[in-house]
Amino acid sequence: MKSAIDTMPNLKLFRQGKVRDVYDLGSELLLVATDRVSAFDCILPTPIPDKGKILTQMAAWWFEHTKGVVPNHLITADWKDVCKRHPGLAGLEAGKFEGRSMLVRRAKRADVECVVRGYLSGSGWKEYQKTGVVCGQRLPAGLQESSKLPEPIFTPSTKADTGHDENITRDALAALVGKETAEELERLSLSLYEFASRRLAACGLILADTKFEFGTLDGRFIAIDEIVTPDSSRFWDAKAWKPGPSPVNFDKQFIRDYLEKSGWDKRPPAPPLPHDVVERTTRLYRDALRMVTQ
Ligand SMILES: Nc1ncnc2c1ncn2[C@@H]1O[C@H](COP(=O)(O)OP(=O)(O)OP(=O)(O)O)[C@@H](O)[C@H]1O
Ligand SMILES: [Mg+2]
Repeated sequence: MKSAIDTMPNLKLFRQGKVRDVYDLGSELLLVATDRVSAFDCILPTPIPDKGKILTQMAAWWFEHTKGVVPNHLITADWKDVCKRHPGLAGLEAGKFEGRSMLVRRAKRADVECVVRGYLSGSGWKEYQKTGVVCGQRLPAGLQESSKLPEPIFTPSTKADTGHDENITRDALAALVGKETAEELERLSLSLYEFASRRLAACGLILADTKFEFGTLDGRFIAIDEIVTPDSSRFWDAKAWKPGPSPVNFDKQFIRDYLEKSGWDKRPPAPPLPHDVVERTTRLYRDALRMVTQ
């Protein structure tokens, strides 16, 4: 989903995502996480103050801690280091970049969202209710919303340039990218999920589900974009968790719930968010960052 949101005129734009403005620095990219928020694949008109900084700090923390599990694109999230490597950037207004920018290696993106689910929620729950299956994988009968799955499952989805991403089966993924690549993406995703969910459990959080992106660099896959943030994951409070709707969360479920209740038809333009929803989201994102990185 593209938008006409202002970017830096003196930098070459590589891509404008829903949340990030990505600038082209040759073999490297500058990922600038804005305070934009998306829900149901649509950018909302109301920014969430500090969200871009929180996401950047959290993703950088995970990239640092998981690089032994799966290599990733991060070079540095320190603006001074970014300017050392690219002196041409030093003249930019630091306040617009500091804390929300990551210098990364540019990769050839696999156009697939690599979702791992340890619990039943969101589109997985909707599919299960209708069919007992999620992305082609049959699950035990009698699961409730938010139930823990017998084991984490890989449930890829397409990465649509416009409109909604679509869940696909692992066979469909294999047909799209080749069997070996599909298996590799699944293996990498499950390893990252396992590492992150173990770490989060120690912080009192459940990683209900999460989405990774990978790209190839020098013939091997690396994790790109962001990992294990409240934008790309569902974080639940482990103490309060029980099967059923509305687990206590530290992610953007609060925004989704508001939008569901608002009667919006999920087609752009999205309605603005009220002040209390915005404030609460910033608070939840901050809490998540503190819990994970402390
Ligand atoms: N290392 C990298 N190499 C190439 N592309 C990258 C890299 N890291 C991130 N990207 C791409 O940069 C963009 C980041 O923007 P953002 O996270 O806002 O996108 P998105 O809205 O989540 O996804 P998209 O617009 O691609 O559907 C994404 O398109 C992502 O795939
Ligand atoms: Mg993204």
